[in-house]
Amino acid sequence: MTAPVKIAVFASGSGSNFQAIQEAIERGELHAKVELVVTDKPAAFVVTRAEKFGIPVLALNPKEFASKADYETAIIEALRECGVQWIVLAGYMRLISEVLLAAYPQRIVNIHPSLLPSFPGKDAIGQAIEHGVKVTGVTVHFVDEGMDTGPIIAQAAVAVIEGDREATEMAIHQQEHVLYTKALQQLLK
Ligand code: GRF
Repeated sequence: MTAPVKIAVFASGSGSNFQAIQEAIERGELHAKVELVVTDKPAAFVVTRAEKFGIPVLALNPKEFASKADYETAIIEALRECGVQWIVLAGYMRLISEVLLAAYPQRIVNIHPSLLPSFPGKDAIGQAIEHGVKVTGVTVHFVDEGMDTGPIIAQAAVAVIEGDREATEMAIHQQEHVLYTKALQQLLK
């Protein structure tokens, strides 16, 4: 058996996708190891989740760096120290610059709660509901310098539950947890 693929999960918020990935690993469904959780929000709930699993956290405040390049360079150093091979964005609310993209070419993926190219950017679920679509969904894609613009890897449709944003959100998040694991199973092979 080959060694598990070393990944870092980047998150700025709740971290439910991080948890789904970690649980898939623990169930033996994903041959990977989360070496590091990286966050730009030291108070985010993902930090608590990571601690619960005993996974190291790198929490850096971008404002404490002179530039985005310096911020990302500090992240790259930490990733290299623990041999990270792939970067998995899961609710990381920052664009990735050329510095990090060059360090991990074709090795950074993201999940977005819509059927891209529809509804990129913030509050994709709200955008979809506002637009009145009946079906929205989830997209896993490679990351480039744009906002949710990289090549699409996997998609799944989710029906909008009319008049119930909370239920729609729940259905989308459930689908995210399934789709991200499936996509990573293929990518990390
Ligand atoms: C997810 O909806 C993901 O698609 C988006 O941000 C949200 C993160 O949720 N990019 P969580 O922090 O993984 O719970």
